[in-house]
Parts: sequence; C-alpha cells; structure tokens
Amino acid sequence: MPEFLAITKYKNPEDGRKGIFQHAHNTQSHVFEWTHQDPKRLNAFNTFMVGHRQLRPVWFNSFPTDDILFHGPEVDRDAALIVDIAGGGGYDLEAFRLRFPHARGRLILQDLPVVIDGLTDLHKDIMPMKYDFFTPQPIKGMSPVLPYQGSTDIALGARAYYFRTVFHDWSDNKAREILRNTIPAMTEHSKILINEWILPDVNTPVFPALQDIQMMAMLSGLERTETQWKELLKSVGLKVVKFHKVNEESEGLIEAVKAG
Ligand SMILES: C[S@@+](CC[C@H](N)C(=O)[O-])C[C@H]1O[C@@H](n2cnc3c(N)ncnc32)[C@H](O)[C@@H]1O
Repeated sequence: MPEFLAITKYKNPEDGRKGIFQHAHNTQSHVFEWTHQDPKRLNAFNTFMVGHRQLRPVWFNSFPTDDILFHGPEVDRDAALIVDIAGGGGYDLEAFRLRFPHARGRLILQDLPVVIDGLTDLHKDIMPMKYDFFTPQPIKGMSPVLPYQGSTDIALGARAYYFRTVFHDWSDNKAREILRNTIPAMTEHSKILINEWILPDVNTPVFPALQDIQMMAMLSGLERTETQWKELLKSVGLKVVKFHKVNEESEGLIEAVKAG
C-alpha cells in the first residue's frame, strides 16, 4: 500500500481495477472477478461474509421495522417486499424470513450469475435472481394484473431495495451508477435501505476507521460519513428519511426515498 500510494502521489484510489489490490497481486481483475474466477476463493469469501455477521446487530432487530418496512399499503403477495441487491448467500433474507414468517410479499435475492449458481440451500420462499447492478433493476413498476385495494394495479416495484455492505465496495461515481439503475424501478411506496457504517465527521472509532482503510486497499472503496451519505444520495435525487444508528461502534441503516 505505501508503495502504491507513493506512486499515485497519495491520491485516494477510485478505480476498482487499478488499485492497491491489483498492484499487490499483479492483476487487472476487479476483486469480485478475481474472487469469482476460483470456486475456492468464492467459497472463502462467502464464509467470510457469514463470519462478518457474527456479534453484529441485524437491522430489523435494532430499528423499528414497522415504520421502516411495513407502514403503508399492504404489499400484494405477488409483489416484492424486499429485493436484496448483491445479497450474496442470502443470509439477511433468511434471517428476515425466520423473524417475519408471515410478512406478505416476495423476498428476492439478486447477485451475479456465478454467485446465484453456487447457492445450494436457499429456502424455497426466497427467490434467487441473476442480476448485475450496473444494468436496470428488473423488479419494478406496476402491473395491471390483479385488483389491489380498489385499483386494478399492483405494485411490482419492491417495498424495499436493500443493500448490505455493497456501496462501500465502490467509489461515489460507481455508487451513483448502481443507484441510478435502481431508482427508476421504485414506486411511490418504495424505499432504499442501506446497511453500512454511518461514520461521524470527526472522531471515528478505530474499528470502522480500519475498515475504511481495508476497503480502500481491497476495492478502491470507502466507508462513508453521514455527510458523505447525504451528499451521495442527494446527487441522484434521493433524500434520507432517517439515519438509524445504535451507536458509533456498529453499522446503521440508511432509509431513503425519492426526493420530491
Ligand atoms: C461485500 S459483498 C456483500 C454481500 C451481502 N450483501 C452481504 O452483506 O453478505 C458484495 C456482493 O456484491 C456482489 N456484486 C459484485 N458486483 C456485482 C454486480 N455487478 N452486480 C450484482 N452483484 C455484484 C458480490 O458478488 C457480493 O456478493
């Protein structure tokens, strides 16, 4: 890392294909391509993501799920309640399903084909879907198929488009691309939920500060402060409803909707 940063004059790396990881491993592959090329690496990464959850609070046990997710018109059984975008092994949807077995609406797990093809024991109530978040979100809009609360439309756009530890892998420009592919799919009742660190502007505790350095080294990514989140979301026409936080030592949940 010091060698790379000296060469690039200590500029923040922003290109996930030309960063510290590529310099160290002498590769031009993005970390996810490098990981996905080899089933052993993919398996190790998935195991890491399971371990990553240990001793960390789950958002729907820490924050008011009724207000965040269930408030508003009832979700049709055929519509999506949560789309977990880049959801990896589906661990969050599985925990959600166990916690809210009677919640109406579909739980949809999206990730790249290699990840979805590798899923072995996904519960039947979680729908896997191959999806690249640099393309338009396909779970969207209204369908004139079933009657819905007096109307003939049902919202097929999800109640929540959920991202856990996704944006910290990407620079602001790439994060904007992902969001711009999601926003057109949102209905007036849709939310974007982001489960990540929400750092203070000063005095960040050591652990998330180390994570910020790790994201820079591995992915040319970053952990974001509350101010950085606000600016990022505002720049694509979203507004923050609430930053849900337990304390400065754990990740929070950002609840955002379309502005105006
Ligand atoms: C840090 S992991 C987070 C996984 C999951 N959200 C979790 O918290 O366990 C990032 C995920 O992004 C996925 N990913 C990377 N590039 C993607 C793309 N272009 N489209 C969809 N998913 C992608 C990876 O396969 C990986 O599962």
